[in-house]
Formats: sequence, structure tokens, C-alpha cells
Amino acid sequence: MLLIAPSILASDFTALGKQIASAEQGGADWIHIDVMDGHFVPNITFGPPLVKAARRCTKLPLDVHLMIEKPERYIDAFVESGADHLTVHYETCPHLHRTIQHIHSAGAKAGVCVNPGTAVSLLQDILADVELVLVMSVNPGFGGQTFIPHTLPRLKQAASLIKATKPTVHLQVDGGIDRDTSRAVVNAGADVLVAGSFIFGSQDIPGAVRALRASALSVEA
Ligand code: DX5
Ligand code: ZN
Repeated sequence: MLLIAPSILASDFTALGKQIASAEQGGADWIHIDVMDGHFVPNITFGPPLVKAARRCTKLPLDVHLMIEKPERYIDAFVESGADHLTVHYETCPHLHRTIQHIHSAGAKAGVCVNPGTAVSLLQDILADVELVLVMSVNPGFGGQTFIPHTLPRLKQAASLIKATKPTVHLQVDGGIDRDTSRAVVNAGADVLVAGSFIFGSQDIPGAVRALRASALSVEA
């Protein structure tokens, strides 16, 4: 099943509740929340209070993407605020297995993410312990960037690792996902599409969620 996870980074923060409701109305499956610390990535965004506010607006799973150094310091706070999934970057976790265990013991599902320059094969020994793998299709830090085409062979590699190790693991892709790129990433094995500007940059948010799903599942001409 294909899941759509709108990223609120591109939403109108003055109307967050309404924006999330519009995405939900269009059939969004998860709400993606991008946490950035100004260290691991150049941008600064949200903390646990924003997750708490989003939690009051929707029953959809809150999919929290931690682009922060030492993410283990904040796991409990994010889960207590209502995060359902916490995804950490491979690049920020010298004790990745311990961090994944911590996420689970706090009561959330765990994801691991790789930047475009980090080998997908490095995920092999943690795959059995996570529920989600996120392959970045842009360098993290900002919305509205251009999809990196080399993501496609990387997704294929991740999909075959998942198939061989733990087929229930979700394969998520994040960055530059729109009507033009969605079909190719699904073909390459992605089953969770994160999209910020394509959805929240639209005048018709529910329509954009539906359009993304339709283009992702369309039959090639
Ligand atoms: C980028 C974030 C993304 C971002 C995607 O670092 O992880 O989730 O919101 O935005 P778009 O869809 O605009 O590329
Ligand atoms: Zn993200």
C-alpha cells in the first residue's frame, strides 16, 4: 500500500490545524514533521511543543524526522509530545542500535535515514531492528529542492535489502517529490512518499494529496 506523508515544513504555520485537516481530507496517511537544529543541517525548525500542537489537530500518525545532532537527548520529549514514529539519521548516531532501542522503549516506531552521500549498504545490520528506512532524495535542511536522480538506484538497493531482511519495513523517500518524480520512486520500491511544497504549496491541498497518489500509481504510458 502506498502511503502519503505531507511535510508541514511547507505549510502555513498561522493555520497549522486547518492545513493538517486539509491534507487529511485529501487522504494523507501520516503527517511528516521535520525537526532541524542548525547544526546537523543549516536550518532550524520545530521542537516538541509543535509536535504537541499537531497531536491535538489529528489522529494520523505523526512521523517525526530528526535532523539533529545527538538525537538520543530528545527521544523521550518527542514521544511524550505525541510522536508515533521517530526517524534518526545514520550520520548522527555512533550508537545507532542503542538509539533505536531507546526509541522503542519510549514507545514509538523507529526509522533510520541516510543522506544522499551515505551508502545504503550501511543499513544492512540495523534493518532487522527498525520499522522504517528513509532514503533522502535531497540534502536535508530545506524544502523545495530538486530531486537527486541517483536516489533511484539507491531506493532499489534499499528495497532489495528490505526484501531480503525484513519485508515489513517501510521504505520512505523525502525531498523533491511531486507529480513528476513520484512514479519513478514508487517503481524503485518506495512505499511512503514525503512531500512538502507539492502539497502545501498548492491552492488545493486535498487535491494535491490525491494528485500525488494518482501520479505515483499511474500506469506508465
Ligand atoms: C528536507 C525535509 C523534507 C522537506 C521536503 O530536509 O526533510 O521533509 O520538507 O520538502 P519538499 O517536498 O518541498 O522537497
Ligand atoms: Zn523530512
